[in-house]
Amino acid sequence: MSTRGARPGGRAASAPLVGRDAEPTAFELSVRGRRADTLRHSAIPEASLEELGPWLRREPAALPEVSERDLVAHYTRLASRNYSVDLGAYPLGSCTMKYNPKFADEVAALPGLAGVHPDTPERAVQGWLELLAELEAAICEITGMAAATLQPPAGAAGELTGLLIMGAYHRASGRDPRRIIIPDSAHGTNPASVTLAGYEAVTVRSDARGLVSLDDLRRVLDDSVAGIMLTNPNTLGLFERDVAEILRLVHEVGALAYYDGANLNAIVGVARPGDMGFDIVHSNLHKTFATPHGGGGPGAGPVAVTSALEAFLPGPLPRPGATGQLEWWTPPSSIGNVHAFHGNALVLARAWAFMRYHGPDGLRRMSEVAVLNARWLQQRLQPVLPAAFDEPCMHEFVASAKEFRSEAGVRASDIAKGLLEFGFHAPTVYFPLIVDEALMIEPTETESPETLEALAQAFERLVEIARTTPAELAEAPRTTPVRRLDEVGAARKPVLVEPVGAADELD
Ligand SMILES: Cc1ncc(COP(=O)(O)O)c(C=O)c1O
Repeated sequence: MSTRGARPGGRAASAPLVGRDAEPTAFELSVRGRRADTLRHSAIPEASLEELGPWLRREPAALPEVSERDLVAHYTRLASRNYSVDLGAYPLGSCTMKYNPKFADEVAALPGLAGVHPDTPERAVQGWLELLAELEAAICEITGMAAATLQPPAGAAGELTGLLIMGAYHRASGRDPRRIIIPDSAHGTNPASVTLAGYEAVTVRSDARGLVSLDDLRRVLDDSVAGIMLTNPNTLGLFERDVAEILRLVHEVGALAYYDGANLNAIVGVARPGDMGFDIVHSNLHKTFATPHGGGGPGAGPVAVTSALEAFLPGPLPRPGATGQLEWWTPPSSIGNVHAFHGNALVLARAWAFMRYHGPDGLRRMSEVAVLNARWLQQRLQPVLPAAFDEPCMHEFVASAKEFRSEAGVRASDIAKGLLEFGFHAPTVYFPLIVDEALMIEPTETESPETLEALAQAFERLVEIARTTPAELAEAPRTTPVRRLDEVGAARKPVLVEPVGAADELD
């Protein structure tokens, strides 16, 4: 029986262990010698401490010791305090928090997929390689590109990968332009990736339509520009109608066009970045093709490129070898690995399952309904919470609470907190930055007309409260396990360690 990590006593018996305000940490629940067992079926023979020798840490790890019963109860209590895509509508604009079907999880959990080590020789995992090759082909078909790496573990990682490919391409052509153009409506990861890749980010303004200003673009374009990063539909939920002209101007100065495909959910089967003229595209599989987005991952941000850029892709890629079997292959001028092994493989398996299940027609319908739902909600809310740009939206739209701030001191965050009391997740607030008091609403295709109507009624009621009894909104949320948090304090002075001194009672 282990005695490591024990914290005798833990919490005093007289203190309540259960309660909305007082969930103990696993360390506080810890009692020396308690453990939760699982059935082991490892094929690897047990090794003695002597054999493992120098690789073993000798001092005990400061881990809590909790019985299975207490552990399950602890996490069930924590989970019941949370809000999730499985619980209800999650109109968090830009994040595409749609319901993710369970069959994708079932596929990803198959032992033949989940139980395989990434170093297994190719001949023993032909099925896995076929799955990845099929997924790559599907991504290329959907985006209209020639080849793709599945390795980047998130959208932002895809951006960095794409920018490194862009740089490698320019250098191979004997140039090294250092500026990347980004519209002012772009997601914050775009300028961050540009900086991380060692480039200078140059902002181009949006015009009165909420679209890239062609005049401003002409102003900043010259041969010092390596490329543009464009999100389409953009983060206002609007389709960049001048995309052909934008790309013509960009290509004219020898720059490349990068498509931030995080909003792909709006256009699958309807429009393709490759057909629009883009050179590099990342897509967030975790937003569009199963696996919920959020909480920092895990995700998958594959990067697809034109045939002119294939040689720079990170390896390894599954390609047929001399025997006809699939083998791992690294392109000749590869920028190198951007993640260990083959990326977040089980997120890729979920995406593959989702695509196979829906097929081309189903995927197109997914995007059509995503746009339909957003347009319906936009129209339904128009009289009370009008969109910042009076255009039919794509998969999301941005409203503004500016009017309520000047009338009654009610801010976008107050309306968002109020929505929690109606049993919905809040929309995104204060993004994109170019809309004052922004409320960014993305209902997604998985919500029913009844849910959309309930959501609309909740917003209507919140607007009514903002007009009549605004002080009430400052109190929201009153029904959640925690009320308003010190978000700035949490970001600036995060407490990231167990505060009670976890190791103080170790053997
Ligand atoms: C437009 C846009 N670009 C990039 C990203 C970054 O994706 P990730 O969070 O997977 O890094 C997001 C995230 O939702 C996004 O909405």
